[in-house]
Amino acid sequence: MSNVRMEIIAKPRQVTQRVREWRKQGLKVALVPTMGNLHAGHTTLVERAHECADRVVVSIFVNPLQFGPNEDFQAYPRTPKEDHQLLEQFKTDLLFAPEVSDLYPHGMHSHTKVEVPDLSDLLCGALRPGHFVGVATVVAKLFNVVQPDVALFGEKDFQQLAVIRRMAADLCMPLEVLGIPTVRDADGLAMSSRNRYLDATQRALAPTIYRVLNEVKTALQQGRRDYAVLQQVAAQQLNQLGFNTDYVAVRDISTLNAPEENPKALVILVAARLGKARLIDNLVVQLG
Ligand code: PAF
Repeated sequence: MSNVRMEIIAKPRQVTQRVREWRKQGLKVALVPTMGNLHAGHTTLVERAHECADRVVVSIFVNPLQFGPNEDFQAYPRTPKEDHQLLEQFKTDLLFAPEVSDLYPHGMHSHTKVEVPDLSDLLCGALRPGHFVGVATVVAKLFNVVQPDVALFGEKDFQQLAVIRRMAADLCMPLEVLGIPTVRDADGLAMSSRNRYLDATQRALAPTIYRVLNEVKTALQQGRRDYAVLQQVAAQQLNQLGFNTDYVAVRDISTLNAPEENPKALVILVAARLGKARLIDNLVVQLG
């Protein structure tokens, strides 16, 4: 961790240059990619990044390529002042904050894309066509600009993490991708920038997702393998309370496909809309 004030750079080439200087000094570099509106989930990633590297780069970029035409790109909360203060407080060395034109200089349409097949087509990928192409493309760019030794992502976005791990492995990217456990509010709600969209009543209801995840987890630990029934009952429970559930899915932990016989580890994933917010969460279940 360095004592120097946080540097803020928008231009990709300047970031690459700064990181190159650190590397020449033999320093290890970590990257925490974010879309800003930072909360304790993000600062936990920054803290963990300091544990595994000498210099920490955080990127803030609300990536238009990963939003569908009717999604919340315009409304996505942008709080640069607060974010900068928080990152300074958590001793970030470099904030990479590009404009859209810095990362997509000839527009998004004709930009080279990175596609991770199969994993990107399931669950959230099936409901948000093109979303994971947008994520993989921007994360590949961030990896190329920063060239970190390690990049850290929250496990709340379980499918996103799986897509990024696969991309890094398939494209032989020379870095370690680290998943960090989900940070929750005291009542169990997974921290997310989109929680801001909830009004007081919805906020009080939102932790039900975590309760339902735990109920399904207990059922699996007790030996239940009637996945379709478990999924349906959980979704019904949420819908009766006012959620509009996109899916509750029990999946193989690495392929995210339906579980094979005698699974050793599963993941339960939920995506549900509540008011203006689309909330996602998951729980891993070790059965070995
Ligand atoms: O999880 C996010 O905040 C974004 O999807 C990411 C990984 C920064 C890519 O834009």
